[in-house]
Amino acid sequence: MRIGVLTGGGDCPGLNAVIRAVTKSLLRQCEAEVIGIEDGFAGLMASPPRTRALNWRSVSGILMLGGTILGTSNRANPLASEAVTQTVLDNVRVLGLDALVAIGGDGTMALAHGLAQRGLRVVGVPKTIDNDIVGCERSFGFDTAVATVTEALERIQTTGQSHGRVMIVETMGRHAGWIALEAGLAGAADVILLPEVDYDLDTVAAVCREREQHQRFTVICVGEGAKPQGGALTVAQRVADSPDPVRLGGVGQVLCAQLQQRLHSEVRATVLGHVQRGGAPTAFDRVLATQFGNQAAQLVMAGQFNRMVTLQQGQLGSVALADVAHQQRTVPLDHPLLQAARQIGVCLGDSAPK
Ligand code: F6P
Repeated sequence: MRIGVLTGGGDCPGLNAVIRAVTKSLLRQCEAEVIGIEDGFAGLMASPPRTRALNWRSVSGILMLGGTILGTSNRANPLASEAVTQTVLDNVRVLGLDALVAIGGDGTMALAHGLAQRGLRVVGVPKTIDNDIVGCERSFGFDTAVATVTEALERIQTTGQSHGRVMIVETMGRHAGWIALEAGLAGAADVILLPEVDYDLDTVAAVCREREQHQRFTVICVGEGAKPQGGALTVAQRVADSPDPVRLGGVGQVLCAQLQQRLHSEVRATVLGHVQRGGAPTAFDRVLATQFGNQAAQLVMAGQFNRMVTLQQGQLGSVALADVAHQQRTVPLDHPLLQAARQIGVCLGDSAPK
């Protein structure tokens, strides 16, 4: 067998751990030849395709490395036109690939699904710091991002406390508030604002004013997809040739300006940005990524294609790509963490009863 492996979309900690596990599992169990595709789907769209061999030597020592040794792209769209799709399918034939393991987020899964409909045999591996892939209760990369944001919140708190300021920390996560919610709780944020719960500015300002009287400082953790009640998303930029062109970002600064008009304390905003995606994966993410990589290899060897590796109720499994493509897993409004946050007095930006 010859199996291709690519990483698509934004990078995240743990990608190399998956590449290593897929490769080792396939080499050891079926002596497959494993071909790494460079720069995600861009490598398969190129003529000639950009590849490199994945073997014992090339995957040795990469478990703990951040990023992806294969490179990635969140612009490449193999479904952009019939000609581009045909180039990809021709390249797969020329490379002699029996199947492709695509490690990526919801965008990559949607593209993989589209290619599967054109006859490509694909196994998807869910990755994203956003933790928003349907069918997967925990994607690798998320734990590392939460740890990074938590540490940032702790650091922000001591400086906010010293100056008696309102400190806003903006996290990534797109339209899902998982990072802001879990890191906000772990980092003792006083206010957590999520894309799933539109916030009321007066409610947030009232919390800050109340704390001005007693604790003197307030820490607000806001997901980049959060928006005020009746207001709009804050868009940082549009990437014209990307399959998902909207890049969120900037709500922290917007909130900063709005709160400053209502408060005596100084207000400051910090955007954590790509620091959340970089660096070494946590031990948890290394283990999860290793399990996902091995599971993908098992699916390939069992001939179960056009499926994505899943984690549901702590159990590894798989789901049809068709069932996850073009969807996002946001925080349900009845999620126990929202309830726990409210019950311990964290403001979620709405005026929900205690
Ligand atoms: O999906 C992962 C993610 O980091 C999001 O949280 C964020 O909105 C987006 O990617 C940023 O994309 P880019 O790297 O293109 O700026």
